[in-house]
Amino acid sequence: TMCGIIGCIGENAAHAVFQGLKNLEYRGYDSAGIAVRYGGEDIIIKRRGRVEELENEIKKISTKMAIGHTRWATHGKPSDENAHPHASGDITIVHNGIVENFAALKKELVAEGYEFLSETDSEAIAHLIRRAYRGDLIKAVAEAVKLIEGSYALLVTARGRDEIIAAKRGSSCVSGAGKGGYFVASDEPALAGFCSEICVLDDGDIARISERGIEIFDARLCPVSRPRVKNAASAAELSLGEFPHYMLKEIYEAPATIKNTFRAIAEKREKIESIVKGVNGIFIVGCGTAYHAGLVGKKYIEELAKIPVSVENAGEFAYSNPIIGRGDLIFAVSQSGETADTLEAASLAKSLGARVVAVTNSPHSALSRLADFVVPVEAGVEIGVAATKSYMGQIAAFLAIAKILSGESGEGDEKIAEICKLIIESVNIDAIVDACAKSRGVYFIGRGLDYAVAREGSLKLKEVSYVTGEGFAAGELKHGTLALIDGETTTIALAFDNRTNGKCKNAVNEVTARGGRAIVISNDKEISEGLEGATTVILPECDRLCSPFASAVVLQLVAYGTAIKLGRNPDKPRNLAKSVTVG
Ligand code: M6R
Repeated sequence: TMCGIIGCIGENAAHAVFQGLKNLEYRGYDSAGIAVRYGGEDIIIKRRGRVEELENEIKKISTKMAIGHTRWATHGKPSDENAHPHASGDITIVHNGIVENFAALKKELVAEGYEFLSETDSEAIAHLIRRAYRGDLIKAVAEAVKLIEGSYALLVTARGRDEIIAAKRGSSCVSGAGKGGYFVASDEPALAGFCSEICVLDDGDIARISERGIEIFDARLCPVSRPRVKNAASAAELSLGEFPHYMLKEIYEAPATIKNTFRAIAEKREKIESIVKGVNGIFIVGCGTAYHAGLVGKKYIEELAKIPVSVENAGEFAYSNPIIGRGDLIFAVSQSGETADTLEAASLAKSLGARVVAVTNSPHSALSRLADFVVPVEAGVEIGVAATKSYMGQIAAFLAIAKILSGESGEGDEKIAEICKLIIESVNIDAIVDACAKSRGVYFIGRGLDYAVAREGSLKLKEVSYVTGEGFAAGELKHGTLALIDGETTTIALAFDNRTNGKCKNAVNEVTARGGRAIVISNDKEISEGLEGATTVILPECDRLCSPFASAVVLQLVAYGTAIKLGRNPDKPRNLAKSVTVG
């Protein structure tokens, strides 16, 4: 599974774990469960559905030890049986990650008489630990994990023992001492409100959490110490405040993200200069929205610094025979810093001798630790499954990098955040939302930078409103997609480039001539001239290089508005999870 996990030893552990699971729900939300030590027994409460559904039962329980899990299914459908924790004899576990040799392990365990009650790969881990367990839990875990191929962050308890054993490889795991006890979890937000400082476990680490505190060991069970770092997630950050949804709150946080990202990068200007100047080839990889930020990044670097950039979807990179090596540099873009495909691409590039630069807002993530250097994206923690402010921070980072590469100063950049703020507070998107909500398909078109943003606008709308469509280069419309256009479709054209706005208008006229609805978003007040039957939304004046910020924030608001109009929960779109830690 790909999920969130948390364990606690302390006063009222069940309640703390429940709260932590609520913080973690963005990592997966198709089922949830918790195991508590109660009256000497290990009791498991788990079911399909949201974490909230466990509240009534958990409220009644006062316990000093608990582990919990919130799930995004990889092996086995969302169901009560497949929900974690999983037990085998005296052993109870929760797992985030994927057991790649699950089929072989299961075959072996079944032959030995172990009974599988779920369809999950994780259950095999419970059986493996049980098989290895002879009264010393940490030893059994160390032995069992050696047999696992794949990734795991694992919490384990055994009947009669007042300790939680954590083990990790590939998937992230943090621990901390804090308010109400000792904690271990899959990431920092889970511990927001409990721990202001955390330890980030390394691959292969095994930790013991007990009333005596947290002890960390390496894979051979030799004690090791891991530095304590500030927990980047605070309880205040996780609170919705006045906002109905995280997605909207985070869209509103774009101006601060942009401003703080420019500032943080300016502080590192010399270092970044020394890292990126003089490199042979520049590559950018990322997935989903992060990949789309890379598309904008390529345009910025090529236009300002005149250096060719290859941008590739991270999931494709490793298998595209990349021609990359010593002297080259790869920007790996990721909000979470935990995306499996992005990590795989970055480590391949590293192994081939390239320098890896992470562009991320997760400074303690696996990607940050793998990278030779981290370009900070000051977005803070992003909870909404749809990436919004992180995208704005990522494109701000690329604009700043492109300027550093070209020797330009960042003068005037502060205006970008101001324009975004103005747009967020004043743009009227009602007509666009109405059109999207009643459309069978929505097509986003543009050229150059507008094309890059069109790709992101389409993804955003699809993932939160489930309205299908596509983002593509405006010139491509007449090469196929035009066949889809009719009165039940909407085409949204981004026109922020004087050099190509004329051609973009031609494409829009081709749409309206075929009965399709069309909306043009532009900052050119005269854009409606020569447009037939299209609605126009005019944004405040801004420089062409700043237009992706302006148009992207509008498209994020449109996606949010459409989701609300159609009764979808934009923070938890169906089938998705925030961190895609499986490849
Ligand atoms: O954490 P990452 O930035 O690496 O995540 C990459 C994608 O999974 C992510 O951007 C995804 O496409 C979002 N749900 C988009 O809103």
